Amino acid sequence: MKSYKIAVLPGDGIGVEIVPEAIKVMEAVGAKLGYSFEYEEGLIGGAAIDETGDPLPADTIALCKNSDAVLLGAVGGAKWDSLPVPKRPEIGALLPLRKELGLFANIRPAFVYDELADASTLKKEVVSGTDLVTFRELTGGIYFGKKTRGEDEKGAYALDEDKYYVSEIERIARLAFEAARKRRNKVTSVDKANVLESSRLWRETVVALHEREYKDVELDHLYVDNAAMQLVLRPSSFDIILTENMFGDILTDLASVMTGSIGMLASASVGGDVAMYEPSHGSAPDIAGQGKANPLATILSASMMFQYSFDDREAAVLIENAIKKVLADGYRTPDIIEEGKTLVSTSEMGDLVVKAL
Ligand code: IPM
Ligand code: MN
Repeated sequence: MKSYKIAVLPGDGIGVEIVPEAIKVMEAVGAKLGYSFEYEEGLIGGAAIDETGDPLPADTIALCKNSDAVLLGAVGGAKWDSLPVPKRPEIGALLPLRKELGLFANIRPAFVYDELADASTLKKEVVSGTDLVTFRELTGGIYFGKKTRGEDEKGAYALDEDKYYVSEIERIARLAFEAARKRRNKVTSVDKANVLESSRLWRETVVALHEREYKDVELDHLYVDNAAMQLVLRPSSFDIILTENMFGDILTDLASVMTGSIGMLASASVGGDVAMYEPSHGSAPDIAGQGKANPLATILSASMMFQYSFDDREAAVLIENAIKKVLADGYRTPDIIEEGKTLVSTSEMGDLVVKAL
């Protein structure tokens, strides 16, 4: 029996609805493949503020560090948006947790299930066959740069610093090249090197590493504006996208459109001793508490946990195939519903995946 301790951080909004569905699926896979999981819940985000006054209590950080993997729902909501900036769920909890755990690489696969090729607002011929993975730098750049407000002779201003070290670029680029070798051997590095100094360093560093160690991998470069356009024009031509924190944030929301819904977009945040698995979407306060949320992004994030934290690709494939079966049988949450399909709730979707397993 392989036993693991999982830190479970449901967070806010739909986070508390989708996380239990992923756990159901982990249990089912565990029973099949001989895993036993011990789950311990921690507070994060708005839920933590309400209970403790702190969006990221020290207990939560300690819990994560003492676990084998972290499963996160989502954080944030209108209720906490007017708090002082350092207290808000995003800046006060999610970003510092990623930093504390050293999770410099956020891996976000955008895979189009054939069954959902009609669910996208983009044409089926365009999205079909899309199978790309974004490697988003997660603990550097403008997200973590110095943020200041000031005033000079021109008036009041705000300033966000966008700083990258060569070492930060190299370590994420390395992961992207390594991943490409196990896939279709192609990396597209996205930057804004025609304008930004940090992007010029990004490109130089990626090119140099490629020259030194990864010449066998096909590498090309796109400016981020062009990358956005190419993503909707020819998504299936991408294999690995390698990019900085903010561009990765934006492009992965865009890439989710191919898959039918951001409710399908999983992610793994890796690089430290303990990895964190989080759907790429937010807390969706507008649909929270109604059983409308799509749990598949979180379930797919759990499948990434098997792959990356437990080195068990077989378990991940089992989950992916169970989802495929449920979709083929016509079951859909509201975000991916189409005519002639069967509408199911969040927990019904979780149950169906368990049954398919
Ligand atoms: C994401 C989210 C977060 C981010 C927010 C909630 C801070 O949009 O994980 O993509 O920008 O990283
Ligand atoms: Mn985002």
